[in-house]
Amino acid sequence: MSKKQIIQSDMSSLLSAEEIAEIDAELAHVPYKSGAAIDALKIVQAKRGWVSDECLRGIARHLEMSDEELEGVATFYNLIYRRPVGEKVILFCDSVSCWISGCDDIKTAISQRLGIDYGETTSDNSYTLLPVPCLGACDRAPVMMIGDELVTHIDDEKVTALFGKAIRRAEE
Ligand code: FES
Repeated sequence: MSKKQIIQSDMSSLLSAEEIAEIDAELAHVPYKSGAAIDALKIVQAKRGWVSDECLRGIARHLEMSDEELEGVATFYNLIYRRPVGEKVILFCDSVSCWISGCDDIKTAISQRLGIDYGETTSDNSYTLLPVPCLGACDRAPVMMIGDELVTHIDDEKVTALFGKAIRRAEE
């Protein structure tokens, strides 16, 4: 095995065998290895919750990309988390339709209930709050995603129903 192959193998070992197998399955569907970049990042994030620098390097080596190239993909695609996040990520839409529908007040209410601002995670690690561009449900604004769930027509009642429990949990 060449020195280059050994280095590549070492870096790939930052990923689990399961992750590598899933990434390799994606590679079968793309003409170039870099074409699987987003799927590879998603695979690792699904297992670990976020993509660390070490994992990013492992993926980059496996896809024969530079760290910088893959970092560019990860940064451009705003659903890849490069820092640890809570058990559930709240993707809060602050684009124009949601803004016109009063999303600023809703966001303030959520921030007050959870005690976090954009980019922060609750002390019990339950939620991370992040802004996101349009979620494609403008006709049902204001809108947010909580994990995989789309929440539409958000109002104070929904905020209380969704996060009242979180507050009690944090206070316990
Ligand atoms: S602007 Fe919020 S979903 Fe489109």
